[in-house]
Amino acid sequence: MATITLEGVSKAFKGKPAVDGVDLSIDDGQFLIIVGPSGCGKTTTLRMLAGFERPTSGVVRIGGRVMNDVPPKDRDLAMVFQNYALFPHMTVAKNLAFGMRVRRVDRKVIDREVASIASMLGIEALLGRKPAELSGGERQRVALGRALLRKPKAFLLDEPLSNLDAALRAQMRFELKRIHAQFPVTTVYVTHDQVEAMTMADRIALMEGGRLQQVAAPEVLYSEPANTFVAGFVGSPKINLIPGQVVRDARRPTIRSMSCDIPVDGTAGAVLASLPHDNVVIGLRPEELRPRRPATGGLPAVRGVIELIEPLGSETHVALRVGGHVLTCKCPPRAGLEVGSEISVEFDPEHMKVFDGDTGMRLG
Ligand SMILES: Nc1ncnc2c1ncn2[C@@H]1O[C@H](COP(=O)(O)OP(=O)(O)OP(=O)(O)O)[C@@H](O)[C@H]1O
Ligand SMILES: [Mg+2]
Repeated sequence: MATITLEGVSKAFKGKPAVDGVDLSIDDGQFLIIVGPSGCGKTTTLRMLAGFERPTSGVVRIGGRVMNDVPPKDRDLAMVFQNYALFPHMTVAKNLAFGMRVRRVDRKVIDREVASIASMLGIEALLGRKPAELSGGERQRVALGRALLRKPKAFLLDEPLSNLDAALRAQMRFELKRIHAQFPVTTVYVTHDQVEAMTMADRIALMEGGRLQQVAAPEVLYSEPANTFVAGFVGSPKINLIPGQVVRDARRPTIRSMSCDIPVDGTAGAVLASLPHDNVVIGLRPEELRPRRPATGGLPAVRGVIELIEPLGSETHVALRVGGHVLTCKCPPRAGLEVGSEISVEFDPEHMKVFDGDTGMRLG
């Protein structure tokens, strides 16, 4: 078991930064997920932890020891890569057993552990086959099984579920979480899937353009996003981000957006007064926009025309055109809505997020 830290770690390829000044500390036993869009530097970060890339600058520590010049084989980490490499000449069973055979574990123990992991991953029927005779998703599960049987200081997993269908992916998410709860080995898990990140992580490190945007527990990332990028990345359907202006002559802190005057209380309200310009962006999650019928009164509301209705069974997503903007609203199923009709939606300003319109940083 080990803590992992990155201190000011950067990596440039031919002078172009892929990872830029990352400071990150992962506690012993923690399940940390690095998430972000394609090309943001996730795999490069993981490869520096593994020892396959040397940082251009900064320090990588594992268990307190500086690792920059330690070769991968001496780091005692188990990895599953995006392009998982299995031994092509070995059967699935031999691939799974490989780490234990190197450690000269007793034959009976090996057989038992291989059978148990194969059953957990649903690959019992494949034990006698070679990697070339497997589908992508099957290979991925073998690679995962092989890593799990290594019992390393830490796991580094790069999109280990990317080739699985939705049902299998959900099941594997559950299994990995269960294994981690039972044996809390420090895990750094890379994905571009925010659902995977939200459901599995103790902490999420959200990257964009080689930089960390925010590191926080999933619920904090959702409720207190540091900036508009984080707010837009986490949550489905996406948060509505709409420009607004600070109303300077109002009696209380107020933002005007979509022709609606919205009072802003709390810290965000207090910060508005000292904002050097009037540009803000308001963030309204789709579930916070409720069709107003009958009128509740008191809460701000906007009126718009329904452009699209997406019934999902348990809920309905509605695209509402309000002036020059389209808002996504999450409505109850069978809400009796019709495309082309006009409705009002209301929201509680207390749950609204307010961002600096120039920098994108959250206010308050
Ligand atoms: N060996 C390399 N040589 C040159 N550029 C590289 C190399 N490896 C990665 N890059 C560049 O560094 C940036 C980060 O790449 P990286 O593989 O870390 O992204 P990622 O976040 O893992 O993306 P994905 O989600 O698509 O896997 C990209 O712009 C990529 O093109
Ligand atoms: Mg990658």
